Amino acid sequence: MGKAIVNGVGSYVPSTVITNNDLEKLMDTSHEWISTRTGIHERRVIGSTENTSDLAYKASLLALEDSGLTPEDIDLIVVATETPDHMFPPVATRLQTLLGCRTIGAYDVHSTCVGFISALQIAELYINTDKVNHVLVVGADALSKIVDYTERSTAILFADGAGAFVVSNIMDSKSEGIIDSTIHSDGQYYKDLYVIGDPNGSDNSKPKIKMNGNKIFKLAVNSMSTSVKGLLKKNKLHYDEIDWLIPHQANQRIIDAIARNLEFPSKKVISNIKYYGNNSAATIPLAFAVARREGKIKKGDRIVLTAFGGGLIWGSLIFQY
Ligand code: ACO
Repeated sequence: MGKAIVNGVGSYVPSTVITNNDLEKLMDTSHEWISTRTGIHERRVIGSTENTSDLAYKASLLALEDSGLTPEDIDLIVVATETPDHMFPPVATRLQTLLGCRTIGAYDVHSTCVGFISALQIAELYINTDKVNHVLVVGADALSKIVDYTERSTAILFADGAGAFVVSNIMDSKSEGIIDSTIHSDGQYYKDLYVIGDPNGSDNSKPKIKMNGNKIFKLAVNSMSTSVKGLLKKNKLHYDEIDWLIPHQANQRIIDAIARNLEFPSKKVISNIKYYGNNSAATIPLAFAVARREGKIKKGDRIVLTAFGGGLIWGSLIFQY
């Protein structure tokens, strides 16, 4: 049985920054309201010339460089995204060509903000069953393409960005690698967070995010807390044995509530929502990459990832870096 080790990490955010003060000029809101209710101060958005695959490509190049591998070494690409350049083909196939990989398997997963954990789980299973040796796992989203900038309860939250992990089968690694993962869903909440509209329609019918914010808030806190508790219990791991918790970056108050529920000290919780907002499938690898760059996360640390998103889908994954 193979051992799935996180062997390279990269992230990329577009250069355009939208601050809360910028949003004040577009809608009836304030920096004070947004920062106290969400923790967000600014977010990044793509320009008209960029697309999700460009974000994915830039993050992937850095992850490959970090792993010491070349594009020809990669055996499988899995991209988590809700905002592909086109409804099809997948972002992953464009990435395969942009990177110059062999004609390997490449596909997208469509599981909202849990996408990166779903994609990592796929890598874990492929490697554990010895099907492949090196998987490029990417979370990339350009939610600005489906944000309605007249709708203040959603426009303040969402953003663009990408993060990538190279996951490799390294049997002699000292790291335990991916220890376990879990994904759940409950479609009864389908209409509490969804996208309406027609990608080919007129401006009035373009895709837009619709959300029942209060309900999603409570579901997010409960689902992520329960999932982390269950996964740790199943693997007989105590909170003291975990170095970092990286929750999906949806709202600082959600992150704080999970930490309180799990009695997890806030100094061990990674958050960078202040600077990047919620870029869906990208939040977790981006938070990991930034925390590593800042010297917080180190080789050998045990990390729990947890996320939730429209569907409702939620899940968690534990790994040793
Ligand atoms: N600026 C100023 N006032 C606002 C804004 C705004 N941007 N947005 C809403 N308000 C007002 C409301 O109209 C309401 O006014 P009222 O009391 O006069 O009716 C008041 O503020 C309170 O509104 P609430 O919705 O109760 O505010 P809340 O504290 O719940 O915050 C928020 C709203 C930020 C949306 C919160 O509910 C939230 O973060 N929910 C989770 C959303 C989420 O994480 N979604 C992503 C899921 S991941 C994925 O799949 C993409």
